[in-house]
Order: sequence, then C-alpha cells, then structure tokens
Amino acid sequence: MVGTTRSDTRIAVIGVGGWGKNHARVLKELDCLAAVCDLDLARAKEIASRHDAHAYSSIDEMLEKERLDGCLVCTPTNTHAAVAKKVIEHSINVFVEKPMSFSSKECEEMTHMAEKKKLILTSGYVERFNPAVSDTRKLVEGKMYGDPMMIEFHRENRMPPHITDVGIIYDTSVHDIDAAIFLFGSPPHVIFARAGKRFHAHEDFATIMLGFEGQKVAVIASNWLTPKKVRTFSAVCTDGIISGDFLTQEIRIDHAEATIVPRRKFQEPLTLELKNFVESIEGKAKIVVTATDATNVTKVAEAAILSSNTGSPVYLDLK
Ligand SMILES: NC(=O)c1ccc[n+]([C@@H]2O[C@H](COP(=O)([O-])OP(=O)(O)OC[C@H]3O[C@@H](n4cnc5c(N)ncnc54)[C@H](O)[C@@H]3O)[C@@H](O)[C@H]2O)c1
Repeated sequence: MVGTTRSDTRIAVIGVGGWGKNHARVLKELDCLAAVCDLDLARAKEIASRHDAHAYSSIDEMLEKERLDGCLVCTPTNTHAAVAKKVIEHSINVFVEKPMSFSSKECEEMTHMAEKKKLILTSGYVERFNPAVSDTRKLVEGKMYGDPMMIEFHRENRMPPHITDVGIIYDTSVHDIDAAIFLFGSPPHVIFARAGKRFHAHEDFATIMLGFEGQKVAVIASNWLTPKKVRTFSAVCTDGIISGDFLTQEIRIDHAEATIVPRRKFQEPLTLELKNFVESIEGKAKIVVTATDATNVTKVAEAAILSSNTGSPVYLDLK
C-alpha cells in the first residue's frame, strides 16, 4: 500500500531535488518514508512512485492530510526558515538541511518555536556522521596524539550552477565550520576571513580563520573555482598529525614512530544522520546536531562575511 511505513515513525521530505531525493531513498531504506512534497509535482510523483510514498506539491495540503512524526526540509536555503516554521507550527519534529538559515535571527526564532513545543530541531551537518570525522573526534577527545592545535580544511569543486541564493560560505564552508567546532569541542571566539567572487553572484572562494580558546586555530579554504573535487582536513596535534579525506573516509596518522592507516567499512554518512533523527524522535538516541550547534555555525558564517567585507576580525561570544 502506498504511503505506509512498517515502522510506526512517519517522515516526509519537502524538496526532492538534487539532495532531497537522497533523503527520500535513505528514509525508504529505514522504512520511515510516508510522503514527499515538491513544488514540481511531476518530480514529487516520480520520487514518490520510486519509493511507494504519497506525493504532494503543496506543503499545507501534506501537513493537513498526513500523520507525520518528522519532516525534512531540503528546499533551497532562502526558503528554509519559512518552510521549517510551518512544520513546527503543526507540532512536527524538523530536520532542516544546512545551513539551518543564512540568518542567525531566523535560526533563533525557529529554535524558540521548537523549544516551546518540545520538538526536535536539527540541521544537516552531515560531516559529523562521516567516519573520518567521528573517528578523528574520538582520537582527539582521548588525546591519543596530544592536544589538537591547528586544523586545516580544503573543500573545492566546480561551481554548482543551480545554487543561486547563497555563496560558498553559507553553502559549503559551513560544513567545515561545523566540523572544526565539533573536533575542537567548543565554538570559536574570533573569526577573520577573506572572500571574493569571479563567476558567481555571491562569493565563490573564501579562506576563513577561526580562533579558539587555548591558541587553537582552524583554517578553512573553500572554492568553487577548481575543476577537481577535493574535501580534506588535517589536524595538527602536539604528538602527531591526523589527516582525513571526507570523500574516501580514510584517515592517516603520522607520528614520530609510524604512519597508521586504520581500515574500516565505508558507511554512508546520510544514513547515519537520518538514523539519528529517527531514533531521536523515537526516544532511542540523543540528537547529535542541536539547534544551538546549527545556530552557532550560521553566526560564524555571518561573521566570516562581515569580516571579509570590513577587513577586520569579528569577535563572538557563543554558547
Ligand atoms: N548536507 C549536504 O551535504 C547537502 C548537499 C547538497 C545540498 N544540501 C542542501 O539541501 C538543500 C537543497 O539543495 P539541492 O541541491 O537539493 O537543491 P535543488 O534546487 O536541487 O532542490 C530543491 C528542491 O526544492 C523544491 N522546492 C523549492 N521550494 C519549495 C517549496 N516551498 N515547497 C516544496 N518544494 C520546494 C524545488 O522544486 C527543488 O526540487 C539546500 O539547502 C542545500 O544547502 C545539503
């Protein structure tokens, strides 16, 4: 029967474009996909029929007709807040793709609304679920190679032509801002950035420096100029360097006596991320990316843009 899930938890995906269609596939694998909604009804029907779900082109109609425990918002960034607020008003848990919003004021409004209704509000910082990052965090937390002092991130790709509402900082650098905060275990207090644009309406290359407590530093270099896809990081610790590749999920540890390359199975970060959302709704897990985490990333991204525009560092006092 169409639109039924074997599990009791029923989730809908709003926006089944390039990325949202992957959410629909994974939710189907988790047996939780009830419905999909896209302004483009033909697209909604195509994805829904692939996964035996109900199709809608109107969010209001879907929220009226379906009994839902959670919604994923996978529409363009400039629509996130309006769509997510609508979902929260219907007392439904919500997962908003990254960035939760490009405005920290909107992030705070959503957070306040979700808190009042005791709902889960989370955002798609999927790299936390990348085994390369989660394994590095375990090594860093356990001080296996001493204190982490500097982390460098490189994220490069051809420009995605369909992203017109935001530049590279809100679209791409946010992943590394979140990963830096996750790996250091606290938000930065100072941000300095230089960004520019060659081919896009907004900035298409950026270098952001984040200063953390205890002289710790992250350097985030992102660009939409290079034709090759690169997504790497390197964490310099006092007793070794942990280098990681977000794409292959490999990490390599170089220390004084040896180079270590741990072997493990490839895991799809999106599956781990959505499993965490579903299990949090079911009360079986704690949400990994909180609304505060997502708001902090937006505040840092806002500060990076301000810093680049003014040429000055921006100091923040984040929770
Ligand atoms: N976490 C990640 O790694 C990752 C990767 C890619 C994209 N994203 C995020 O996912 C979001 C979508 O990106 P995309 O690349 O899939 O964009 P896209 O343009 O390919 O898809 C967006 C879809 O949303 C639909 N849509 C727009 N407004 C709508 C509305 N009001 N109601 C219903 N449907 C609506 C459009 O018709 C389209 O099909 C963005 O916020 C982006 O930042 C995250």
